[in-house]
Amino acid sequence: MTSQNRSRSQSVHISHIRKSFGSFDAIRDFTLDVAAGEFVTFLGPSGCGKSTTLKILSGLMPQDSGEIRFGDRRIDMLPANKRNVGLVFQNYALFPHMTVAENIAFGLRMRGWSGVEKKSRIDELLALVRLEGLAGRRPEQLSGGQQQRVAVARALAFKPDLVLLDEPLSNLDAKLREQVRIDLRDIQRKAGQTTVFVTHDQVEALVMSDRIVLMNGGQIEQIGTPVELYATPATEFGARFVGANNLLKSKLGGGGAERHAVVEGAALPVRLTTVSRLVKGSDVWCCIRPEHIAVRPAADLKPASGVLATVTDKIYQGTTILIDLDIPGVEKMRAERSTSEAGRINIGDAVHVDFEQAHAVPRN
Ligand SMILES: Nc1ncnc2c1ncn2[C@@H]1O[C@H](COP(=O)(O)OP(=O)(O)OP(=O)(O)O)[C@@H](O)[C@H]1O
Ligand SMILES: [Mg+2]
Repeated sequence: MTSQNRSRSQSVHISHIRKSFGSFDAIRDFTLDVAAGEFVTFLGPSGCGKSTTLKILSGLMPQDSGEIRFGDRRIDMLPANKRNVGLVFQNYALFPHMTVAENIAFGLRMRGWSGVEKKSRIDELLALVRLEGLAGRRPEQLSGGQQQRVAVARALAFKPDLVLLDEPLSNLDAKLREQVRIDLRDIQRKAGQTTVFVTHDQVEALVMSDRIVLMNGGQIEQIGTPVELYATPATEFGARFVGANNLLKSKLGGGGAERHAVVEGAALPVRLTTVSRLVKGSDVWCCIRPEHIAVRPAADLKPASGVLATVTDKIYQGTTILIDLDIPGVEKMRAERSTSEAGRINIGDAVHVDFEQAHAVPRN
């Protein structure tokens, strides 16, 4: 066996997976193709079926129906130990009595690697996860972030077809979590390892993923790149779940590039900057991100577009300030502007509000 960091990662093809617990449908028709070397994240609220899907992929739980292939090999009838899948869970589950090197080597011993092969693979992995020099320590002598990287090295060690990570960062404090996110992403890229990552933290999903699978109630709401999910959510659920958003009850007006949303309760047309396939006259939510609401003192030169509003609150956050706005006839809206820009705006001020970008999703 040659000793290389690059894994033999496979593409993964999941088609029409279903899983029920009694009368409860936990996974309803889950279909997804993951490219070799891709980092895909399952994102969704607690109970939406992320871990269940991961358990089905790993072989720890059987599906009721549907197929899974790694490359062109069907694997869904194989037991977990025949699937060549690396697993990392929330609690790392390192063996406490073993050293870092022994933990990493665990899966290699089971797979019959020779002493020489093992030694060189452990060295490679220690370098990959930046733990050179710590091979002889036991888990209790490591920080949370270091333990987490050992767990990742152990999962990568035997060059799996697929690595599955279920909320591996949730035990880390906020600062370390931000660092390990980037570490983990770098390790995955260097190893070229096909990876499915699970989180309910949307920032984590946006930072780490090639693509995100947004899940809700056992179903896929949307599959897309982080930019696609953030800029053009497909559903109301997606518009509310990923990032802060203002949703205004509207009807779709205009056509083609002139598409606009007419906000209910106010004769306020909002030009849509992303044009969807929705039909004119349909009920939509007009979605406007806080950072796309420009706020200027009403005393300034009147801009060509926009509406008048009153500032009801101002929340300092360091680099940005949240500005709560009362627009006659419209639900409350929240803008987010840089601290330098928002400095001269105060609670009670009359302001001009302008929407720099707007996107519509269907309203049911
Ligand atoms: N063995 C089981 N028996 C019965 N119901 C189960 C079982 N495992 C999971 N469920 C249910 O299936 C649904 C999906 O569970 P799952 O663990 O996949 O959620 P999740 O998306 O991973 O949530 P979380 O973010 O809280 O980890 C939940 O409603 C859960 O209660
Ligand atoms: Mg879970």
